[in-house]
Amino acid sequence: MADHQQDTELDEGGCSRRGFIQFIGVGVGVVGATLLSPPLRKPLLAHTPDRVLSATDMVMVRLTINGTAHAVAVEPRWSLLYVLREIIGLTGSKIGCDRGECGACTVLFDDVPRYSCLTLAVEAENHAITTVEGLMDGEQLGQVQNAFVEEDAFQCGYCTPGQIMAVEGLLRKTPSPSADEIRHGCSGNLCRCAAYKNIFAAADRAARMKRK
Ligand code: FES
Ligand code: FES
Repeated sequence: MADHQQDTELDEGGCSRRGFIQFIGVGVGVVGATLLSPPLRKPLLAHTPDRVLSATDMVMVRLTINGTAHAVAVEPRWSLLYVLREIIGLTGSKIGCDRGECGACTVLFDDVPRYSCLTLAVEAENHAITTVEGLMDGEQLGQVQNAFVEEDAFQCGYCTPGQIMAVEGLLRKTPSPSADEIRHGCSGNLCRCAAYKNIFAAADRAARMKRK
């Protein structure tokens, strides 16, 4: 009885509450149907390709990582970082932010430091990829890695592989960097432990070691 009274109550404009809700429902339905209708526009492609890949189709890519060729089936949307860690098993490159902010995932892409979390694996085909594992000679650390150890250039160590790759890339391009060039070369890599002073010292030491 109370519900019935409520439903039939009229507001000052002469519209019942139920009527108002039904009106809104119809309106939303009409707007929704309009938005969901296929838009009338020309197709994006002038011709019809044999097949358009969807994001979840697998494609084969040939990746050269640390001098070794790999043929890998990947989804076109997979990042290089994901493929390195989860498919190939090279876990030296770390996942920090996974969105291009921290540098923990830095690898060398044709000798240039690059965030592997923002690089698609399919982009890496026909390029030389170097990860922190690739700086080692068997069980021996590379020069930049040794410089980080000798300068105690880490605390938790999570950012360290990315920092090392940034320094390695800097020194491949600029063998005798100034202090400013070192700071600039490391500027894409964050260290939550704030070991920057030692990281810069390690970069300088590595430069001297490489020149010998
Ligand atoms: S994980 Fe790639 S930039 Fe942070
Ligand atoms: S050593 Fe901990 S984040 Fe850099």
